[in-house]
Amino acid sequence: MTGPGRRVFVTGGASGLGRELALRFAAAGWRVAIGDVNEGRAAETGAALGPGALVLRCDVTREEDLAAAAARLEERWGGVDVVVNNAGVADAGGIDEVPDERWRWILEVNLLGVVRGCRAFTPLFRRQGRGWFVNVASMAGLLDVPLMASYNASKAAVVSLSETLQNELEGDGIGVTVVCPGFFRTHLGESLRTGSPGLRAAMEGLFARSPVTAAQIADQVFRAVERGAFQVLPHPAGRRAWLLKRLLPRRLYRAAVAGQHRKLREYFSRKRAGEGRE
Ligand SMILES: NC(=O)c1ccc[n+]([C@@H]2O[C@H](COP(=O)([O-])OP(=O)(O)OC[C@H]3O[C@@H](n4cnc5c(N)ncnc54)[C@H](O)[C@@H]3O)[C@@H](O)[C@H]2O)c1
Repeated sequence: MTGPGRRVFVTGGASGLGRELALRFAAAGWRVAIGDVNEGRAAETGAALGPGALVLRCDVTREEDLAAAAARLEERWGGVDVVVNNAGVADAGGIDEVPDERWRWILEVNLLGVVRGCRAFTPLFRRQGRGWFVNVASMAGLLDVPLMASYNASKAAVVSLSETLQNELEGDGIGVTVVCPGFFRTHLGESLRTGSPGLRAAMEGLFARSPVTAAQIADQVFRAVERGAFQVLPHPAGRRAWLLKRLLPRRLYRAAVAGQHRKLREYFSRKRAGEGRE
């Protein structure tokens, strides 16, 4: 699927990876629309994209916003080639610390937001006889980072949804890419819900020290869509761990990554120690 003249819609397109994706597609000559709840950042990204870009107020927790986006883009552009379900939020805490309310919140945005994006645009893609979903999950959905169960589970569900839709929609000419990055620097920390200031500081540290940038990930995603690839694993360390998890029995996989998990638990403990909880 190559531009120019192609059309892409990016949810959560105001900031971070969504913004970089919008810029990457625009640089290749695609027509770009972004949808977000952060109107200030969306306007700023819209200005960076240039006069042809569309900026929609679109909350992925609202079915009607996604339906309106699909209708508006069909009316304006006559169709859409790629929908990037990127909007997401973060949560961190132990299993005994995260209440149902926070589980519901993260599943509403990270999982059901992607479900709604796919549901709203599938009829249009079917009428067109083609279309492509890019669903932004996370390495967290493939591996099992401690103290992030709600986020991990929301992203694992996005991986499962994407695998299912690849099988389900293939006959309609609709393709799927699922993106599973490790940590990288964006504004995701602003959305982070946690009861632990130490855990918040630890997460901020993980975002900040990433060797991979949002722009690099956006470029990999763009190229994956062009060649019709299913999975994008931008972080080399994540790719290695995922390969080990796929190839080894659970016991051997856990032994192989035990050192990394121990370091991570110690890092979290150090950051939380100042709270007087450890
Ligand atoms: N930053 C990381 O380390 C990392 C790692 C793996 C996966 N991801 C995923 O990448 C995606 C993009 O996140 P980011 O890191 O660029 O963070 P970000 O906070 O910079 O961008 C997320 C965007 O989504 C928007 N958003 C939040 N809730 C929304 C809603 N209900 N409706 C519409 N828009 C909404 C925010 O306003 C923001 O503009 C997310 O799905 C995130 O889970 C991020």
